[in-house]
Amino acid sequence: MLRANPGTTGIGVDIAAPVLEFSASELAAAGLTDRVTFIEADVRSLEPRPEFADVELLTCFMMGHDFWPRAECVATLRRLREVFPNARRFLLGDTARTTEYADPDLPVFTLGFEVGHALMGVRLPTLADWHGVFEEGGWHCTTTHTIETPAASAIFELEPA
Ligand SMILES: C[S@@+](CC[C@H](N)C(=O)[O-])C[C@H]1O[C@@H](n2cnc3c(N)ncnc32)[C@H](O)[C@@H]1O
Repeated sequence: MLRANPGTTGIGVDIAAPVLEFSASELAAAGLTDRVTFIEADVRSLEPRPEFADVELLTCFMMGHDFWPRAECVATLRRLREVFPNARRFLLGDTARTTEYADPDLPVFTLGFEVGHALMGVRLPTLADWHGVFEEGGWHCTTTHTIETPAASAIFELEPA
């Protein structure tokens, strides 16, 4: 995205320091070090920062299920609206809990994803659950790009409601 859009910059947020260190080394290898800054923070309790006011596009991939249960997810979606007041688009990509497979027919990634989260006591949202939180969270879903692999995955295109 940075390469395709000269002059753009990014801010990467993750709760895990090793992930940020890895990302920084990947960015350096790509020669893009001066285009991205990193912040170690929990997205669910993110506080406003002056640089967040410049953010026009939010992306969040394979992490949204950590926003749940529902009340906390709505609170996080609202918080993101407040913390990034000028975000015009939010691309939220995630894998959800499947509802259409019998246990013996679960695709292997889905089996691991669902069993792993069940072992951690995490109840994953379904795609329908996701569609039930956006408006309350202050976002309007304009398009849902469904992804077949992994199963029950989608990129939701959100804009401020
Ligand atoms: C499955 S990985 C996905 C990483 C990357 N977005 C991708 O698509 O390859 C989930 C990432 O979300 C981070 N994460 C999970 N919960 C978080 C939270 N509450 N705040 C910030 N980062 C979080 C994890 O540390 C991990 O790096």
